[in-house]
Amino acid sequence: MDTSQLAKFYKKDFQEKIQALLDAGVISKEDSQALLNESLNLEKGIGNHMIENYIGNYSLPFGLAMNFLIDDKEVVVPMAIEEPSVIAAASFAAKIISSGGGFSTAVTERTMIGQVTLKNVPNIDEAVKSVKIRTEAILQRANEAHPSIVKRGGGAKDIEIRVLDEETPTYLTIHVHVDTQEAMGANIVNTMMEGIAPYLEEVTGGTALLRILSNYTTECMATATCTIPVRKLATGDYSGEVVRDRIIEATQVARIDPYRAVTHNKGVMNGVDAVVIATGNDWRAVSAASHAYASRSGQYRSLTKWDKNDAGDLVGTLTLPMPVGAVGGSISIHPGAKLAHKILGQPTAKELERIIVSVGLAQNFAAVRALITDGIQKGHMGLHARSLAISAGATGEQVQQVADQLKKAPHMNLATAKEILEQL
Ligand code: MEV
Repeated sequence: MDTSQLAKFYKKDFQEKIQALLDAGVISKEDSQALLNESLNLEKGIGNHMIENYIGNYSLPFGLAMNFLIDDKEVVVPMAIEEPSVIAAASFAAKIISSGGGFSTAVTERTMIGQVTLKNVPNIDEAVKSVKIRTEAILQRANEAHPSIVKRGGGAKDIEIRVLDEETPTYLTIHVHVDTQEAMGANIVNTMMEGIAPYLEEVTGGTALLRILSNYTTECMATATCTIPVRKLATGDYSGEVVRDRIIEATQVARIDPYRAVTHNKGVMNGVDAVVIATGNDWRAVSAASHAYASRSGQYRSLTKWDKNDAGDLVGTLTLPMPVGAVGGSISIHPGAKLAHKILGQPTAKELERIIVSVGLAQNFAAVRALITDGIQKGHMGLHARSLAISAGATGEQVQQVADQLKKAPHMNLATAKEILEQL
């Protein structure tokens, strides 16, 4: 990949962007044709098979965040998102972060958790013992329920027994830890849980109430870290030290105040979800897990940490549960998802985790940096003006013309955008 071809990407028109991607080796000739022909949508025949009562496609803007350097590798990141400023902010943040060496990441083993929750267990202590001594038999039955994942090198690896006695009645939950290899693995795990439930009923004397994957994937976590030289943080009005300290303070507020934490983390998820969606993964799963993880202390807190190191530079960290896959689901079906994986160089699931968590950290940095300096509205206005122009009915070159005048107008709203368009 020759990213020099992608310099000032945002200034290029649509055709030039596609050509630059082709020249940079990010996309193939075939992909460029697909983009030029606007054929990233699902075919009707496929959509109709994917869901019940299908009536068409609902599309989102699909764009690329630039400047990401992740574990010493340049990455062009596909994002699907409707919010105007997200990709610009991610690219801006990634540029500053790359100047300090980029993102370093770490991922755990990819183990998903399945749960069988039993009720009416006559003797919980006996049942716990009984399950424990049958660990191997349970794992074997789980693997027999989904032999193909075992052939691929994965499968059920371990169990954990949990007694849920916070309320009456007491429930007994058996967790099975499953290596789902390159898949997110919901179907694999659900099949296994349904497969072992009758045996667990037999062993415990209870009744299986729930047999399903846990989306709280604490055994599949990804971390990104970055160090930003303090001098790179200076803006026209603020020194690098002031910006650094304010970012640290703002994150402290998000740690202690759930009202701020939710907004702070929403900023993280702007980036995370956009990549998860673009790559055909289940963004509800990643979101649900992330927000649960933010609450792990018993209070909802900031997902990112920002601190200074001995040199006075700003150090950021983000750890998230990351249940994404490189195969399965809509990944091999959806044309946008297929292209996203190609643009990323067909990453493994672990590589994808590393990319997504880095984008989350970049997005948070951009948002908080803007908040504690100029405020976010300044940066948003240009993009907001273009959205208003489109809503007012502007097309083609009119969009920029209306947006430019709108930015100078006393009230930036839809009515003014319509007036400007009429005058044009
Ligand atoms: C807007 O989509 C996201 C922000 O509100 C995040 C934040 O406040 O940190 C800007």
